[in-house]
Amino acid sequence: MALFNIKDIPIHSRVMLAPMAGITDAVFRALVRRWAPQSLICTEMISANGLIYSKQRKAKILDHTDCDRPIAYQLSSHRPEVLLEAAKQVIEDHQPETIDLNMGCPVKKITGNFEGCALMKEPQYAADLVRLLVSELETPVTVKFRLGWDHNSMNYLDFGRRLEDAGVSMVTLHARTRAQGYQPGCKWEAFGELKQALSIPVIANGDINSVEDVRFVLDTYGVDGVMIGRHCQGQPWIIGEIHEALETGKQPEPWPIHKRLEVAMLHAKALSDYQGPAIAIREMRKHFAWYAQSFPGVRAYRNRLTQVNSLDEVQRLFDEILSGQYALAG
Ligand SMILES: Cc1cc2nc3c(=O)[nH]c(=O)nc-3n(C[C@H](O)[C@H](O)[C@H](O)COP(=O)(O)O)c2cc1C
Repeated sequence: MALFNIKDIPIHSRVMLAPMAGITDAVFRALVRRWAPQSLICTEMISANGLIYSKQRKAKILDHTDCDRPIAYQLSSHRPEVLLEAAKQVIEDHQPETIDLNMGCPVKKITGNFEGCALMKEPQYAADLVRLLVSELETPVTVKFRLGWDHNSMNYLDFGRRLEDAGVSMVTLHARTRAQGYQPGCKWEAFGELKQALSIPVIANGDINSVEDVRFVLDTYGVDGVMIGRHCQGQPWIIGEIHEALETGKQPEPWPIHKRLEVAMLHAKALSDYQGPAIAIREMRKHFAWYAQSFPGVRAYRNRLTQVNSLDEVQRLFDEILSGQYALAG
């Protein structure tokens, strides 16, 4: 039985992967899927302008794999006709379960173009964008946004109500303002206020990093689900494990380093097959450091992990780590 519905789409997990540009690509999502086949998972933010004006219909950012369902495609733009055209293309080409609109991105390049969180400064304009998409698309439209532009303009309740009136099927609240960026200090109470104010599903996001956090947020604020971002870096199994813990009550065990590195190598090989070895190794450097995090000897080899040039070199370094040499040095 569904735990909740997004319009008419049944959702069977309360734990979702947050979109992260440069991280949650098709390969990373396929890994997450190994442990979390039921979770709604979102693509990275896709520029609707790029899709329409630069005719990037075949861009890799649009790819997904056969296992990658249910999937949300996240679009950004403030131009109604461009957003609508991009959504129609994505629906035709990929048949996503939902279309998500990014109204939370704090990056200057995006907000300076009146996209992402800048749309929270013009709530009526944002609601009209949603109303247009909802009236033209059968696919449910959802929105991810923040508390507001800054501490003095936290309009998440009014914003959420306007989006609901415009016909949005679900909202995700990242409980920080644009001005906070990614600094510590999420206002989790806002989840409960928003849930009280709306009747559509509300998803909580921001510093939710453990089974205990998830249980607390679900039980205290009554939200329908949670979205987890940075905590999945270097641990793509987390979404599935937390879902499992909610279902069974079984507490996940921390993964030993040899299992973490095994998944890291699997990730690297899959990315190499997908992007080619040169791009993959550059992309993987940050992931290697995340996979190796929380290991006692991490400091001794972090620099080397972020400078590797080939999969062979990575394998040698992993062998060294596992042989215990660096554990002793840590
Ligand atoms: C590197 C990075 C890229 C991100 N890219 C996106 C994005 O493309 N779309 C989006 O809605 N949010 C994006 N976010 C925000 C996350 O989805 C999430 O809201 C934020 O990280 C807070 O959740 P967390 O504390 O679980 O990481 C990004 C965050 C990070 C760290």
